[in-house]
Amino acid sequence: MKILITGATGLIGTELVKALLAKGHTINYLTTSVSKIESKPNYHGFYWNPQQSKIDENCIFGVDVIVHLAGANIAKRWTNAYKQEIIESRTLASELLYNLVKKNPNQVKQFVSASGTAIYPESFDKVYDENSTETEDSFLSNVVKKWEQSADRFQVLGLKVCKLRTGIVLSNLGGALPEMVKPIKMGFGSVMGNGKQLQSWIHIYDLVAMFSFAIENQLKGVYNAVSPNPTNNLDLTTVIAKALKKPLFLPNIPEFVMKLLLGEMSYLLFSSKNLSSQKIIDEGFQFQFINIKEAIEDLYSLKKCC
Ligand SMILES: NC(=O)c1ccc[n+]([C@@H]2O[C@H](COP(=O)([O-])OP(=O)(O)OC[C@H]3O[C@@H](n4cnc5c(N)ncnc54)[C@H](OP(=O)(O)O)[C@@H]3O)[C@@H](O)[C@H]2O)c1
Repeated sequence: MKILITGATGLIGTELVKALLAKGHTINYLTTSVSKIESKPNYHGFYWNPQQSKIDENCIFGVDVIVHLAGANIAKRWTNAYKQEIIESRTLASELLYNLVKKNPNQVKQFVSASGTAIYPESFDKVYDENSTETEDSFLSNVVKKWEQSADRFQVLGLKVCKLRTGIVLSNLGGALPEMVKPIKMGFGSVMGNGKQLQSWIHIYDLVAMFSFAIENQLKGVYNAVSPNPTNNLDLTTVIAKALKKPLFLPNIPEFVMKLLLGEMSYLLFSSKNLSSQKIIDEGFQFQFINIKEAIEDLYSLKKCC
């Protein structure tokens, strides 16, 4: 298949591209950086700028599936201007792709979009699945709602729309995990708050496999892209410290301290999401990593890394 990917140069995109190329697919990708445009066999970059409604329309020819991963990183201070960028980098980008598909002759059959777990309410005991109609009233939850609505528009054009509500992606190459690892490695690691907040995570290997699975099985609808066993912040911090053979002796960090340091973004450290991944399992998807200890050891065992 020929697959057009946005955000292909990011943490998830880079690994997804490698996996799809290895399976024999052809990749077109859209990037906002001219310097990231490459053209190799089966791998061709095209320029776009969603804020300025600019796109190289050649990117769509022969494409069967669009994967939309692009979006401004949420792990930066949420000023009002940056909040706007977080939303628009996702929704304006979808709109530009929508107009591209609508205007040009094409054979695109499926639109697969990354999405987030922030849409679900805070939860410790109750497990939420994709049928839940309860949503949270927070900035990120509203981002997810707008992001998914912008993806759903592709149904009007007759495309199958698949949204992967992705939990915390565990990779040693970027994202949240290396940020958690840094202080622990220096001996300053500690638990956030009471450490009971649940963190629905997914190993990068499984997430990439899930995107491939969604494409190759032409899935439509919403799927939680989280491992079947969420962990809590205390266990996650402890498992990382053990994998790195580092002690944890500092007191827990109170939520108000992180709020002072990070502002509203401290939400990312203290929110608790308890989510089911049964729907994708019922489709036949098999997770490689269902246990947090094995996932962290895979990424950070002293033999393999650092
Ligand atoms: N990593 C996680 O834990 C996680 C969890 C849940 C959901 N997600 C979502 O999954 C998607 C991919 O995540 P990721 O971790 O791979 O992200 P990432 O490493 O930050 O990469 C995102 C890519 O989006 C493009 N981008 C950045 N700012 C942009 C802007 N203002 N306008 C248009 N494009 C922009 C960039 O590509 P170019 O420079 O090539 O344009 C960048 O490489 C994101 O939408 C993210 O919110 C990630």
